[in-house]
Amino acid sequence: MLKITDLVKRYGTGEPVLKNLDLTIEGESVVSIIGSSGAGKSTLLRCINQLVKPTSGSIVLNGTELTALRGKDLREARRKIGMVFQGFNLVDRLTVMENVQSGRLGYISTWSAITRNYPKADIRRAFELMERVGIAQYANSRADQLSGGERQRVGVVRALMQQPEILLADEPTASLDPKTSEQIMGLLRDLAGELKLPVVINIHNVTEAKEYTDRIVGMRYGRIIFDDKPDKLDEAAMEEIYAGSPHADRGGDMVKAS
Ligand SMILES: Nc1ncnc2c1ncn2[C@@H]1O[C@H](COP(=O)(O)OP(=O)(O)OP(=O)(O)O)[C@@H](O)[C@H]1O
Ligand SMILES: [Mg+2]
Repeated sequence: MLKITDLVKRYGTGEPVLKNLDLTIEGESVVSIIGSSGAGKSTLLRCINQLVKPTSGSIVLNGTELTALRGKDLREARRKIGMVFQGFNLVDRLTVMENVQSGRLGYISTWSAITRNYPKADIRRAFELMERVGIAQYANSRADQLSGGERQRVGVVRALMQQPEILLADEPTASLDPKTSEQIMGLLRDLAGELKLPVVINIHNVTEAKEYTDRIVGMRYGRIIFDDKPDKLDEAAMEEIYAGSPHADRGGDMVKAS
């Protein structure tokens, strides 16, 4: 369970970007976070995985208070949080297997990593996951030879190699064509169920958020102003979340409560 209480994040001396935010995520649910550009979606994910230090408040993942951790404890806790990025964040000149195994850094010795002498169990697990997402045939290909959708599958497998307790994805499909984007969303949803893993996805595509996630959290100016099942996201709620914003993909007629 992830329990965020009274979270505040202020960059420098400006107005807080996250304002006393509360959010609890339980079970293997797939949660999407929507909201205009600048609402604080990425900052929220970065606070969860501690890439950004919250100004105040509490973030507890399965009993561990993350905001209090330092050094080794922090590194250990961060392994439990898998991260998937919009730009995939692969090392282009390395193979798919090497990229995937980088998810094990922190678990294996530096020597094993440098010599690419990966533990057998890690190689087995990598192949299982790569088979699952349909990229096993590319294990020895360089990452930059893959298509965007395939590269994101590598990103997902790398995150899963960490054996995370939660998976965070910051606009994982924003760089993909519409069909590939849907495939990746479907994959994330299915993996959440299969691995009993909560998944939190920042996303601008409201149609996909409605179709592929169980719960939609709407943010505006650093606050959560909507938190409900997708079919409750009606036009009035959309208006409130996106009022005055030219950025939103409002999802066409999907906006209507279904
Ligand atoms: N490192 C930083 N230093 C200062 N301000 C920042 C930093 N990162 C983000 N901000 C500011 O915090 C606010 C929220 O940014 P954030 O990236 O969290 O929004 P977002 O909802 O993810 O937007 P988008 O949909 O465009 O990705 C913005 O006003 C942004 O300019
Ligand atoms: Mg963002």
